[in-house]
Amino acid sequence: RLLRDHTTLRLGGPAAELVVATTDDELVAALDTDGPVLVLGGGSNLVVADEGFAGRVVKVATTGITPDTEDDDPSCGGVLVTVAAGESWDHLVEVAVERGWVGVEALSGIPGSVGATPVQNVGAYGQEVAQTIASVRVWDRVLRGVRTFANAECQFSYRHSRFKADPGRHVVLSVTFQLRQGTLGAPVQYAELARALGVDIGGRASLREVREAVLGLRRGKGMVLDDADPDTWSAGSFFTNPIVPAGQVPDGAPAWPAGDGLVKTSAAWLIDHAGFGKGYAAGRVSLSTKHALALTNRGGATTEELLALAREVRDGVHAAYGIRLVNEPVLVGCEL
Ligand code: EPU
Repeated sequence: RLLRDHTTLRLGGPAAELVVATTDDELVAALDTDGPVLVLGGGSNLVVADEGFAGRVVKVATTGITPDTEDDDPSCGGVLVTVAAGESWDHLVEVAVERGWVGVEALSGIPGSVGATPVQNVGAYGQEVAQTIASVRVWDRVLRGVRTFANAECQFSYRHSRFKADPGRHVVLSVTFQLRQGTLGAPVQYAELARALGVDIGGRASLREVREAVLGLRRGKGMVLDDADPDTWSAGSFFTNPIVPAGQVPDGAPAWPAGDGLVKTSAAWLIDHAGFGKGYAAGRVSLSTKHALALTNRGGATTEELLALAREVRDGVHAAYGIRLVNEPVLVGCEL
């Protein structure tokens, strides 16, 4: 019942109760309690208090990857694949690459479960799940019924959705992806990935090559879980990349257009240049030695120690640049 055994940060005290749900029926039944409920997918985006969770933790362990056609002939054009919330995200990507399903290959190596991906519209290397999700089937804890949201109803934006905006209300049961069929990955949209593949932006490489290139880049940044490497004992990026008026971006910082005269700048750059370089340490916690945006537990740390480092970084960036960083992982029983 120790939540540190279920989170990639290896932090968090005990749950009062832990229920593992292997079917949708078990999942819905487990949610039917008056007390507080914490739904746990892969635990890769969670910061849980040292006190733990004084309620029922429901671990989603449903499985199933079901395409609407068994025909893997690319001339069919496309496939709708319905995936149970408890499936590992990276396993789905691996299956997609093997079967010639195009559209999620750049999202290789991301920890966590499929059900978690629509909540924060997971993205990396120029793809985000909003581009390929057809619909999301959820249990609505307010209306007490199953609902299906089409993509356009999910209110997807950068690392955000209606599910994240209304925490605790929707529990994802399954996600249906609309994927093209073929052997080439989608046109590459991320400069660093294009360089790694030796193609131009908009160029293409095989699904397998894209997956391997992304895994290589992610490993280099400590963003692929590895039991032997504390640089990977993190919740991935700890802060979202801030979206600010163009004039507010410091000289030299990366800036990507975000519409309406706004730009998205790099949280990692701001942290690095505000005096917290890679590996910046505060005892048993530190910034990853491979990427300034990942806060890591070096072993035996407490959540309070991690949060103290997060506050120090957030406040230091604010003092240096006037930009307020916002945490990306979900905080359970604690705050920044
Ligand atoms: N940079 C630094 N110092 C560092 C690392 C990066 O200054 O230690 C600067 C560099 O200038 C670099 C820029 O930051 O060009 C951007 O870095 P990177 O390409 O690694 O991407 P990121 O913005 O830090 C985002 C996502 C990641 C995703 C990568 C790749 C967010 C909050 N993070 O990171 O997602 O894997 O792009 O697409 O959007 C996650 O959300 O948990 C996550 C890992």
